[in-house]
This record gives sequence, structure tokens and C-alpha cells, in this order.
Amino acid sequence: MADIKGQEGAKRALEVAAAGGHNLLMVGPPGSGKSMLAARLPSILPLLSAAELLEVSMIHSIAGNLSGGRLSDRRPFRTPHHSATMAALVGGGFRGRPGEASLAHHGILFLDEFPEFSPQVLDALRQPLETGECIIARANHRVTYPAAIQLVAAMNPCRCGMAGEPGHVCARGPRCASDYQARISAPLMDRIDIRIDVPAVSAADLIRPAPSEKSADIAARVASARKRQSLRYENLGHGDIHTNARCPTALIEACAEPDRAGLTLLQDAAEQMKFSARAYHRILKVARTLADLDGEDRVGRIHLAEAISYLMAGERQMAPA
Ligand SMILES: Nc1ncnc2c1ncn2[C@@H]1O[C@H](COP(=O)(O)OP(=O)(O)OP(=O)(O)O)[C@@H](O)[C@H]1O
Ligand SMILES: [Mg+2]
Repeated sequence: MADIKGQEGAKRALEVAAAGGHNLLMVGPPGSGKSMLAARLPSILPLLSAAELLEVSMIHSIAGNLSGGRLSDRRPFRTPHHSATMAALVGGGFRGRPGEASLAHHGILFLDEFPEFSPQVLDALRQPLETGECIIARANHRVTYPAAIQLVAAMNPCRCGMAGEPGHVCARGPRCASDYQARISAPLMDRIDIRIDVPAVSAADLIRPAPSEKSADIAARVASARKRQSLRYENLGHGDIHTNARCPTALIEACAEPDRAGLTLLQDAAEQMKFSARAYHRILKVARTLADLDGEDRVGRIHLAEAISYLMAGERQMAPA
């Protein structure tokens, strides 16, 4: 992470996503460092536990890519190309092999150039994102592979890549952005808790870099936030839930109940922005993670404000131009 100069907002979002296991979408012009940021996510995630390592190795062994029996407790980071077929992504094919989503089990599935994937292939991801597993149905049998993934996606705001940049007008006008973004269905977008803009850094920022934090420092905060989550859900009798992102809606309403100031903010925002039920739960989950990063038991106004800002960034990106 120390390699990345500036981009404090994007780094913060990466930390929050890592802490709560949230799916993340980064939108920005070419060269703004989206791929670079995503590639650094594994460096701030906690290592695999022994039980997780076992599951991950089993899947990789079935897929036949456990080279020389070498195991790594780094979380998987899979980067399928946008020409990937449905079978390549969610599994299937002649021998019913696990797909990229399962190979990314307990780790990151990074989809770069998100809208360039075929819409059918992307929609096939909805089920694994919801249930944490891929089901491959064949004529005479069914195979289920685990796929508890954190989705990280990156995209340009429009096909030519420059919409919204100062002084730039797309040749195809506003449709350049709206047609491009429409390739991602609303239900899929709904499953992405954190969406951020990644503006390009200027050369001036690259020349005089302020010292930035190392991955290990961020990883320590992420690890303690994750510990708080595991412990909380275990105490509530949900030992199988480890992150806020995977917390069911009824439970998150109980765990992320805001204090009085937070509630007022939430009510005002809900009235003005008219957000959907899904958006409301997304805000609660992200706010819960922000409170966990702060080591707080209650979700406060400041946590909700930041969570709402991520929601607003997403609405801005996807608003019809
Ligand atoms: N904040 C930064 N600090 C240091 N280097 C940067 C930064 N932003 C961009 N770069 C440099 O720019 C290069 C391009 O970044 P990257 O490939 O991540 O961009 P991108 O946003 O993925 O672009 P595209 O939309 O074209 O895929 C990087 O390899 C890196 O050398
Ligand atoms: Mg890129």
C-alpha cells in the first residue's frame, strides 16, 4: 500500500471493504490506479485460518492447480479476464470443474473492466454472492462448490473512459456513460456495498509523495475489526458468520442500531434520498464495520455519515446522465 501515492479516499475504502468483507466497486478514468489498488487488497487482509486453508486447498486440488502441493495461507486473489465464459466463472464445463468464483473462495474475485464481461456471465454471479456457493446443474447430477467471495470490481465511467473528467466531452454524449453502465444489472449492483470514485492523481502528487502507510499497519486494524465481528456473532450464537457483509438483515438491524444522533441522521437521509430497503441494510452493514474499525460498540452519527457517503457515490455514478 505504501507504493500508492495520494488516493487517501480510495485507500480508506479499501480498508473498510477489507475489514467488513464488503464487495467493492471502483470507478475512474484510465490510469487512475484502480488495478493497482485492487492488487494490494490481499496485503491488508488477515491470513487464512487453518480451516479456511483446508477448504481452499481442496477446491484448488479439484481444479488441478495445486502446483507441487504447495499451500499458501495468503487469501486467494483471482483475476479472470473479461472474455471469461459462464463455466469459467462459476464452474461447469465437461468435467464440472470449479470456476473462478470458487477458486476465489475465502478470498477476492477481482473483475477488472467490469462492464466488459458479458451480462449473462455477470448475472450468474448473483447466486454465489448471495449464498456463498456455486451450484452446477448437469443433466444427471448437481455439484455444489463453496464460493464465499469478496467481489472487487473496477471500471471506467464510460466506454471511452473519460466521462466526468474536466474539459472532456464524450463523442457519443451522455449515452456513452449510461449505455456502458447499463451493462451491469441493478440486482448485481445492489450486492456491492461500497462504491467509490477513483480520480486520477496528478503528476505533482506523484513527485512529492507524503509518506504513506504500510500494508502491515492497515492489516493490523483490519484484523482487530474482524476479531470484533467474529466475537460478536459468536456471542449471539452465529458462529458461522465472521463478517458484517455476511450478516443477515434482521441481525444487522439489531447489531448496528444507531445512537440517537445517528438515528436522526439516518431518518433525514432516508427521507431526502428515498433509499431502498436494500440500500438501507447496506448502510447499516458498512456503518457497523466503521464502528468496528473504531472499536466502538454503538454505531454513531460519524459512522453512518461515512456509510451514506459511499451510497451517494454509487447513486451519482449510476444516475442517468
Ligand atoms: N496513486 C498512484 N501512485 C503511484 N502510481 C500510480 C498511482 N496511480 C497510478 N499510478 C501508476 O499508473 C499506472 C496505471 O495504474 P492502473 O493500471 O492501476 O490504472 P487503472 O485505473 O487500472 O487504469 P485502466 O482503467 O486503464 O485499467 C500504475 O501502474 C502506476 O504505475
Ligand atoms: Mg486497470
